[in-house]
Amino acid sequence: MRILAIESSCDETAAAVVEDGRKIISNIVATQIEEHKLYGGVVPEIASRRHCESIVSVVDEALKAADTALKDIDAIAVTYAPGLIGALLVGVNFAKGLALSAGKPLIPVHHIKGHIAANYIAHPDLKPPYLCLVASGGHSHIMKVKSYTDYETIGRTLDDAAGEAFDKAARAMGFSYPGGVHIDKAAKEGDPKKYRLPRPKTANPYDFSFSGLKTNVINLVHNASQKGEEIDINSLAASFQYTVADILSSRFVAAAVEGGYRVCAMAGGVAANSALRDMTEKRCKAKGIKLYIPPVSLCGDNAAMIGSQAFYEYTEAGITADGSLNAVATMPL
Ligand code: KG4
Ligand code: ZN
Repeated sequence: MRILAIESSCDETAAAVVEDGRKIISNIVATQIEEHKLYGGVVPEIASRRHCESIVSVVDEALKAADTALKDIDAIAVTYAPGLIGALLVGVNFAKGLALSAGKPLIPVHHIKGHIAANYIAHPDLKPPYLCLVASGGHSHIMKVKSYTDYETIGRTLDDAAGEAFDKAARAMGFSYPGGVHIDKAAKEGDPKKYRLPRPKTANPYDFSFSGLKTNVINLVHNASQKGEEIDINSLAASFQYTVADILSSRFVAAAVEGGYRVCAMAGGVAANSALRDMTEKRCKAKGIKLYIPPVSLCGDNAAMIGSQAFYEYTEAGITADGSLNAVATMPL
């Protein structure tokens, strides 16, 4: 089954053709980062307008790169939640029009389920059940993936998502948006033990809280600049990254051990972080747990992951949408 998938929930306009949920035939991502960078973060109205301008050519390119005509596509999938509402609406409306005019089924996909499904593309042997750590710009969740379409959240952030904390801390350190990748790079040259940062406790041992940690970094930088003191930015990046990665991976692996999981996965933009990948690999290995992580190229937003999840939504749960499909800004899994 060939699915044409569309993703426009934030600042990437993306389209992909995916076969049977596991194989990428084409995968096109048009990023708007350069423009949002000027403002230090995503400007929702600009994002919507750029999606509006790019969506026709991106979808066209995905079909061309797949050497597939629309008539040979079996279904159209689209991210309908969660995300920036104006951005989501562009993809939803376009997918709806395309599906209705071509007479194809329309499959709505939850963005975070898509992130998790990036693992099915990268790892042909991965099947539920497993425990998944989802860490992105908007989410930090520990999820039981009970089947391809059934999930349970056992831990989540109580305030900032990990990616959000990375981006805000990075901004204070003088890096451009999105800052996660810059912290990752700078951290390689720094000492992760140089700055001691807080590790907030949570009532549920599998929840997270990153806002205090982020504020601590921001205050540290501001206080130093007021006093005219030098900050070792590489070491601050390394210390911040080490602390976030340690909190995420230790709580995640503890949850996996407690739940008796032998298989785990990670997903989302922050799963691209080198320290988080290394630490979680090591911890899982020590506990005899097999860990799956998508390649960095599939951790960030893309439409291939949406096409993968759509296959399972359709074939396992019979999910389709009609012409009344709407976009939703916030939606639990
Ligand atoms: O999943 P994603 O592409 O978009 C959302 O659904 O939010 O995640 C984007 C987030 C951003 O906060 C970005 O800074 C972060 O992922 N990120 C990283 C790295 N690469 C991307 N954070 C830490 N280290 C990285 N290497
Ligand atoms: Zn995402």
